[in-house]
Amino acid sequence: MSAHFSKRLIIVSNRLPFQLIKKNNQLEIKESDGGLVSALQSYFQNTSSGKTAFEATLWIGSAEFNEANWDRLDKQRLEHLAYSVDPVFVDKKVYNKYYNGFCNATLWPLFHYFPSFVEFDNETFKAYEEINRQFADRILSLLMPGDVLWIHDYQLMLLPGMIRESRPEATIGFFLHIPFPSFEVFRLLHRPWKEKIVQGLLGADLIGFHTHEYVQHFLTTVQMVKGYDHQFRSIMLPDRLLKAEMFPLGIDFEKFHAGAHLPEVVEQQRIIENSFPDKKIIFSVDRLDYTKGVTHRLLGFERFLELHPEWREKVIFILVVVPSRQIISKYNERKKLIEEEIGRINGKYSTLGWQPIIYRYNSLSFHELVAMYLSADVGLITPLRDGMNLVAKEYLASRIDRGVLILSELAGAANELSEALLVNPMDRDEVANTILQALRMPEELQLQKIELLQKRLKEYTVNHWLADFLRQLEDTKLLQHTQRTR
Ligand code: G6P
Repeated sequence: MSAHFSKRLIIVSNRLPFQLIKKNNQLEIKESDGGLVSALQSYFQNTSSGKTAFEATLWIGSAEFNEANWDRLDKQRLEHLAYSVDPVFVDKKVYNKYYNGFCNATLWPLFHYFPSFVEFDNETFKAYEEINRQFADRILSLLMPGDVLWIHDYQLMLLPGMIRESRPEATIGFFLHIPFPSFEVFRLLHRPWKEKIVQGLLGADLIGFHTHEYVQHFLTTVQMVKGYDHQFRSIMLPDRLLKAEMFPLGIDFEKFHAGAHLPEVVEQQRIIENSFPDKKIIFSVDRLDYTKGVTHRLLGFERFLELHPEWREKVIFILVVVPSRQIISKYNERKKLIEEEIGRINGKYSTLGWQPIIYRYNSLSFHELVAMYLSADVGLITPLRDGMNLVAKEYLASRIDRGVLILSELAGAANELSEALLVNPMDRDEVANTILQALRMPEELQLQKIELLQKRLKEYTVNHWLADFLRQLEDTKLLQHTQRTR
C-alpha cells in the first residue's frame, strides 16, 4: 500500500451518523442505520482491527445537539463506535438558511429536475458559503499530511475547493449522492453560484457519481462553465489531474438477506400477512419528498383499480411515508396532497370489508421494514427522479423467494436493475398496466429475475463501493504523482 494511505481516513458529511438522546436522564448515542453509515461502520471496524490501510478514522459533521450536551456526554459512550467524532457546532439561524434554504429549497429541487420549485435567495447562498467555510476551517485545523479526506454530498460542494486553496497537496475525494443534472438545468443557477459550485468541486482529486449519465453531465458542465476539456473522464486542471467516475452505491446485502430469518422479523411478517389473508400486497416506503412521486403513484394505483375491477378487494397497497424536512413549504404541501389523494381513492373504492390503501406516516424499524419487504408481493418504487434509490435494492435483497419489483426508469438504480419492471412514473396508464403485469407474473419468472438481481447486488455491495472509491482515489493520486515527476 502506498505512503499516501498510511494515516487517517476523514469522512465529512452534513449530518453525523448518530443522534444524542436522553434515556433515564442520561445522554446516549443512537446510531443511524442508513446505507452509508453501516458501510462505513463495517469498514471502520476493519480499520480498528488493522485490516485496512488506515490507522484511524474520523467523522466530521454538523451537530444536531448543542455544545453543552456534547460536553456533558460521558465520552465512554462513544467508545463502541468504530470511528472518532468531531462535531461542527453551527449557528442555528445560519444552519437553517443553509439546510432549509440553499441545500433543500435550491439545490435539491434543481438537481432533481424541479426547476419551478427552486428558490433564488442570495441570503441562503451566503449561509451555504458560511457553513462550508466553517467545515473547512475545522478540517484545516486538524488535517495532517497523508490524511485522506472523503467529502459527501450536495450540502458540501464548496468544501473541496476551500481545502485545496490552503492545502494544494491534500488527498480529497468527493461523492455526490443525488443526481448531477444536465447542463440545461444546472445553468439555471445564478452565474456566481454555479461558478463557485463548479470551482468548489474541482478542488477534489476524484469525484464519484452513481451513474454514467451523471458523470457525463458533470463533465459537460465543467466544460461549459470553466472551459476545461475532458478525456476518458479526466480533466487536466492547471495544477493537477481530476477524475470523475461512476460508483453505483450498493447496500449491505447480507444484512437484509439474513434479516429475513430473524425471529422478530418472522413474527412481524406473520402479523402483517394474517391481517390481510388472501390479498396480494403492494408496498412502498419513501421519505416524504416531492421527488419520490407518491401522488403520481397513487394515481397509477387508482387507474389500476378503475381498469381492472376484478382485482378490487383482492389487493391492498401499503404506503409508508417517512417524515422529512417538514419546515420547507414544498414538503408540507406534499403531505396534504398525498393525504387528500389517499382519502379520495379510499372513499371511492372502499367496501365494508376492504380498504385499498393502508397509509402510515412514520418511520419503520429495521425489523418492521424487512417484514414489510417480505410480505410484499410487489414493491412499487416510482420516484420522479432519484440519485440511486436504495429501497429498491433492499426490497430485492430481503426476498427469500419470489417477488416483483416495479421501478421507475428515472431512478439511478434502474441502470443496474434492468430485470425489474421499469416504468415511466408520470404515465398512470403504464403504472396501472405494470401493476397488472406484476400481479400476473408466473412464479417461475419471478424467481428467475430475483436470482439474477440478487446476484448483481451481492457482487457490488456497499463495501465494494467504498473500497472501489478509495482505491481509485489512491490511483488518481499516484497518476498525478507520475505526471509531475515525468
Ligand atoms: C438524501 C441525501 C442525503 C441526506 C438524505 C436524508 O439521501 O443524499 O445527503 O442525508 O437524503 O435527508 P436529510 O435532509 O434528512 O439529511
